[in-house]
Amino acid sequence: MRVAIIGSGYVGLVTGACLADFGHTVVCIDRDASKIESLQRGEIPIYEPQLSELVSKNAIEGRLTFSTTVADPVSDAEAVFIAVGTPARSRDGQADLTFVLDAVRDVAAALRGYTVVVVKSTVPVGTGDNVERVIREVRPELDYAVVSNPEFLREGAAIADFKRPDRIVVGAEDDRARDVMAEIYRPLFLNKAPLLFMARRSAEMTKYAANAFLATKIAFINEVSDLCEQAGADVQEVAHGIGLDKRIGSKFLHAGPGFGGSCFPKDLQAMIKMAQDHGAPARIIETAAAVNDQRKRAMARRIIRACGGIVRGRTIAMLGLTFKPNTDDMRESPAISIITALQDAGARIRAYDPVGMDRAREVLDDVEYCRDAYDCVTGAEAVAIVTEWDAFRALDLDRIRTLMARPNLIDLRNIYGPDQADKAGFRYVGVGRGK
Ligand code: UGA
Repeated sequence: MRVAIIGSGYVGLVTGACLADFGHTVVCIDRDASKIESLQRGEIPIYEPQLSELVSKNAIEGRLTFSTTVADPVSDAEAVFIAVGTPARSRDGQADLTFVLDAVRDVAAALRGYTVVVVKSTVPVGTGDNVERVIREVRPELDYAVVSNPEFLREGAAIADFKRPDRIVVGAEDDRARDVMAEIYRPLFLNKAPLLFMARRSAEMTKYAANAFLATKIAFINEVSDLCEQAGADVQEVAHGIGLDKRIGSKFLHAGPGFGGSCFPKDLQAMIKMAQDHGAPARIIETAAAVNDQRKRAMARRIIRACGGIVRGRTIAMLGLTFKPNTDDMRESPAISIITALQDAGARIRAYDPVGMDRAREVLDDVEYCRDAYDCVTGAEAVAIVTEWDAFRALDLDRIRTLMARPNLIDLRNIYGPDQADKAGFRYVGVGRGK
């Protein structure tokens, strides 16, 4: 199949590289000429395991090309994916559709012959109808279909998620479009991935409902973890105990410093706004979002408490800055709220992250960035593990303790346990581990 992808950001690039790898002929398009030039040179603008190799391989083999212009690739394509950003609108938190609708107008002008326009960006329910209207206005004579095909990739695991998805969701209102989508995703059927066809609005809603449910699951276990601390239980044991019930499931039950990233916080806000607009307020989701915001700040208080209540003039070491491992993404990372609150309380911050320090420099001031974990903890009053990078899973705790001014270990990802930390001579604070 010939596919054009508008937007060569995270979703567009991963989708383009994976579809090319399936054997389709793909053009990834972006307005940003410098991004396209670097992609043409084989440089990938984001950090995502395996993506660089996949892009180079498919570019060399001629199935994946890059362009700043929409016209030719779209005229040739049987399917055009819209994968541009939908950032939160500052005035009300709703998804801003400017980029989507701009892209659709460009695409509409270039379409030729029956084409399926696939909306991959996360968009409020009913956007497919708008997209259809916009194309109709520009090209009243054209034969086309608009399909919703939300993506469920996780950063850091995007290639594996694309190639082995739990399901593919396609919201389509016409049979021809369903056939085109089935052909595009046919290679995945070998992996037994279910392709779910549904109404377009249901597909749009599925994306928000999935993210809201997952985020609520995290907010839930984080509240349980607070209660565990007070009641003398261990949240890890409780999560294991409830997770084996198939109705609950064991994934997304890791208590921690709160969820971040470019998706959950933004999509929750958009869903809350959409629910209000439809007169069906999403109170559980509103609460999950509020609980999570408060939690990030509460993590700073936890660190301050571990230091005896005063951090003014003292050095705190932060291991991990990105919102999760295997990404350089700092968006809505708990580290931002935690570091800012610690700095407000007068602390000096040293930090180390295996990949995220360049991005961190753009959002955090007055942080001393370090060579590695050991350099980072040197002279520190406390060390906080904020992101569970593999590199932090087997630290030499004895060495860490001897480098530090005081042996305070605040393990916000429960990588270590009280016994292990005790043995190395640390005062240990985890998450959800009762006294
Ligand atoms: C999330 C969803 O998992 C994807 O399915 C979805 O496609 C994506 O959003 C999106 O909408 O684009 P992502 O934000 O990349 O993916 O990362 P997750 O692995 O879901 O983690 C999100 C946050 O939740 C992280 O801050 C992580 O540390 C936190 N988390 C996750 C927990 O605190 N506990 C858990 O048990 C799981």
